[in-house]
Amino acid sequence: MEFISRNEIETENVGAVFAQSIPNGTVVAMYGDLGAGKTAFVRGMARGMGIEARVNSPTFTIVNEYIGQRQLFHFDMYRLGSSDELFDIGWEDYLSRGGVCAVEWTENVEDALEGDEIVVKIEKISDTERRITIEERE
Ligand SMILES: Nc1ncnc2c1ncn2[C@@H]1O[C@H](COP(=O)(O)OP(=O)(O)OP(=O)(O)O)[C@@H](O)[C@H]1O
Ligand SMILES: [Mg+2]
Repeated sequence: MEFISRNEIETENVGAVFAQSIPNGTVVAMYGDLGAGKTAFVRGMARGMGIEARVNSPTFTIVNEYIGQRQLFHFDMYRLGSSDELFDIGWEDYLSRGGVCAVEWTENVEDALEGDEIVVKIEKISDTERRITIEERE
């Protein structure tokens, strides 16, 4: 599926509707440059999952946990050098907890993933336009 977003709120809205379509336990592997809108998309996911807290970037903590009607674990792998560090922070425990895992900077932990993720790509078309592509990994 492909969506064109014209501002941050539209990206959040796509994330909200998307989150309502995926089951608990889904890993969402996100790709997109700095400032593409990955965190905005996850903020919308949280809203769509009945979570009231405002989602911000977890850059300094690697993972933020949000519990509402559903559970959302928001990972930012920007600072991770390898997937070994991901296992150190308990990646497998998170997978087993049955929440949705949303992953920014998937590139840095590619070899830790199992290949059954849903891939969300966000590309900058202009200052304010984004192309959001959502697909299952083959
Ligand atoms: N259509 C749009 N969708 C999302 N964000 C947009 C859009 N247009 C402009 N922006 C701006 O782009 C920025 C997106 O920031 P955001 O933190 O979500 O990006 P990110 O992909 O998570 O970046 P990072 O890799 O640094 O974590 C915000 O400043 C937002 O206002
Ligand atoms: Mg971000």
